[in-house]
Amino acid sequence: MSKRQIVEISTQEAKRQTEIINILSQRIKGKNLKFCLSTFGCQMNARDSEKIKGMLEEIGYLQTENEDEADFILYNTCCVRENAETKIYGRLGALKGKKRENPNLIIALCGCMMQQDMVVETLKKNYKFVDIIFGTYNTYKLPELLQTRLETGENIIDIWDSYKDIVEDLPDARKYDHKACVNIMYGCNNFCTYCIVPYVRGRERSRQPEDIMNEIKGLVADGVTEIMLLGQNVNSYGKTLENPMTFAALLKQISQIEGLKRIRFMTSHPKDLNDELIEVMASHDNICKSLHLPFQSGSSKVLKRMNRHYTKESYLELAHKIKKAMPNIGFTTDIIVGFPGETEEDFNDTMQVVDEIGYTSAFTFVYSKRTGTPAATMEEQVDEQVAKERFNRLTALVNQKAAEALSKYQGQTVEVLLEEISKNNRSVLSGRTDTGILVNVEASEDMIGQYVPVYIKETKSHYLVGELAK
Ligand code: 5AD
Ligand code: SF4
Repeated sequence: MSKRQIVEISTQEAKRQTEIINILSQRIKGKNLKFCLSTFGCQMNARDSEKIKGMLEEIGYLQTENEDEADFILYNTCCVRENAETKIYGRLGALKGKKRENPNLIIALCGCMMQQDMVVETLKKNYKFVDIIFGTYNTYKLPELLQTRLETGENIIDIWDSYKDIVEDLPDARKYDHKACVNIMYGCNNFCTYCIVPYVRGRERSRQPEDIMNEIKGLVADGVTEIMLLGQNVNSYGKTLENPMTFAALLKQISQIEGLKRIRFMTSHPKDLNDELIEVMASHDNICKSLHLPFQSGSSKVLKRMNRHYTKESYLELAHKIKKAMPNIGFTTDIIVGFPGETEEDFNDTMQVVDEIGYTSAFTFVYSKRTGTPAATMEEQVDEQVAKERFNRLTALVNQKAAEALSKYQGQTVEVLLEEISKNNRSVLSGRTDTGILVNVEASEDMIGQYVPVYIKETKSHYLVGELAK
């Protein structure tokens, strides 16, 4: 299909869904119906949920955080690790009674977990009260699926096995006024052997640079000053475009947008992070000096079995090169312990990388077997207790190193974007430094969205405590 055909289909689809939104909004007008949307998993899901919320609000549903008062309950699911799935089944079990009490309640499930045949079979058999099931490729069809459910009273299952088109220009409800996430690509081609993402989110597809630029310009015109560019592997952006372009070139274009103060991006794969990107990052003030660079394991042997295409040495070399170009850079990472075949020696390599790089924070995971991935059938699965014990040692080191990295901010004055009211104290606002570190500072709510100098008076292992600098 040519690009023009795809654009036409996308425009037609967006129009169709918009028409259905209008029909539904007439139907529910004055009924004061509420939806409750729970999002599991990563930033991709969070971004999809903003789109879901946008469509539902356009229809006329009001959002509630309380499932008990909701007329429409949705779970946007994750399946990256087993415990994510267990959590969803647990929550679903509790919904069964609610549905019995209120037969008008509509329950919908979507997201990554739904892309697995086994899950849909289980739902069909044991969770018949679920009204609507859809996947990651057709989120934009929610209005139509809801309409069909309301008109037919039948359960709806609509799962695609790949993208047909990228549908844009539908309603969208952003969580923050001053910052926003923007997808630059979808899917992943890397097939790390432990990971289910390529199977549930499909092959890598980059959005057109013009579409990305227009979206960001629109956001900036709306008052947004910080953008997070999203993709499973942003460093391979543009490779599959008709006119290929690099991620560094895209970043350079974006950084020219007037009024855009901070640009972040995630996730970077070490194998695709090149000198061009380092140069562009280092030479543009509005590209944040923070980098999420998952290394997964410090052992070159394990990395090979994970299909990661780099070694411990090449990762360390890359991280040091980045540090040399940007000495203040804040590194974060993802680490898996207990991957099949991981020995105590392999695990010590992981500990060494943490010790040497000193991440400002790290997401640490115990390996979780995902059916259908190559690692699930590998020999030498690590004993659960051994993995747990390694995990505890790893998190202790991660916390110690993060505390050390953050202690360097003591007594400094740093620029902070004030983002939201702190969860624990209403007179405190939380924000972030350019380097991505969380800062709590006493300030009034009306200062949200401002960039202010903050004097750091105390440092913890996961955040900084400061006061507005005079
Ligand atoms: N088990 C444990 N962690 C996993 N991740 C992905 N798949 C698995 C798995 N099967 C982690 C990786 C990835 C992050 C998003 O989730 O560290 O970077
Ligand atoms: Fe999964 Fe690897 Fe793709 Fe990340 S790069 S989404 S870990 S397959």
